Amino acid sequence: MGRIQECRLFWREFRTSFRTTGAILPSGRRLSRALAHYVAEPADGPRRVLEVGPGTGVATKQIAAALRPGDRLDLVEVNERFVRLLKEQLQTDPALLPQAERIRVLHARIEDLPREERYDVMVSGLPLNNFSVDEVDAILRIFNELARPDAVLSFFEYIGIRRLKGALAGRAERERLRGIGQLLETLLAGREIRRQAVWRNIPPAWVHHVKLEGAT
Ligand SMILES: C[S@@+](CC[C@H](N)C(=O)[O-])C[C@H]1O[C@@H](n2cnc3c(N)ncnc32)[C@H](O)[C@@H]1O
Repeated sequence: MGRIQECRLFWREFRTSFRTTGAILPSGRRLSRALAHYVAEPADGPRRVLEVGPGTGVATKQIAAALRPGDRLDLVEVNERFVRLLKEQLQTDPALLPQAERIRVLHARIEDLPREERYDVMVSGLPLNNFSVDEVDAILRIFNELARPDAVLSFFEYIGIRRLKGALAGRAERERLRGIGQLLETLLAGREIRRQAVWRNIPPAWVHHVKLEGAT
């Protein structure tokens, strides 16, 4: 599927499933590459990689290109139409086909993933700013539960989005955004190992990379 068709599908999903889709366009190539940064880093042995909310698979292609022999990639996606597209691309897209044996597509919410798997690198495309404070809190705990010790979580948010939404919102919505901001600040404090501004994306985005302790 070409970029224009992907954008069309994304826009349709944005209109019908606004809360979970969370963006009007799939991430651009630079943002996708930044999200895959730690998959491309050298490692001692084979790794388990998780991508949450792959959508139309733009970051997935960058992640797949950075996989090394023995690595395995799980994709967790809640939207059935994106799941269908991802499965199709695994069989047809030259960027994914060579790695298809090592990639699993799971049609699920991250909240419903069994907690027995552990990952070395996790990449999230989740639109956290669309969720309730409790949902974000639960999701951040799940990332830690799924993390091997010293796992890296990479995720993005659009630059200034919480401030912009807050300025236009009523009191309850401002409270919700403030709560999410606090949770993210707590996550980043002392754990953020790299932050990248991706200005050439619509809209521009911060990519945060954090090192997680992992569940004991
Ligand atoms: C902002 S889009 C990002 C898509 C893609 N990663 C990109 O950068 O273009 C958010 C994606 O997360 C998925 N999603 C939302 N909530 C989810 C959840 N609880 N578990 C798994 N996937 C979820 C949506 O269906 C959508 O594909």
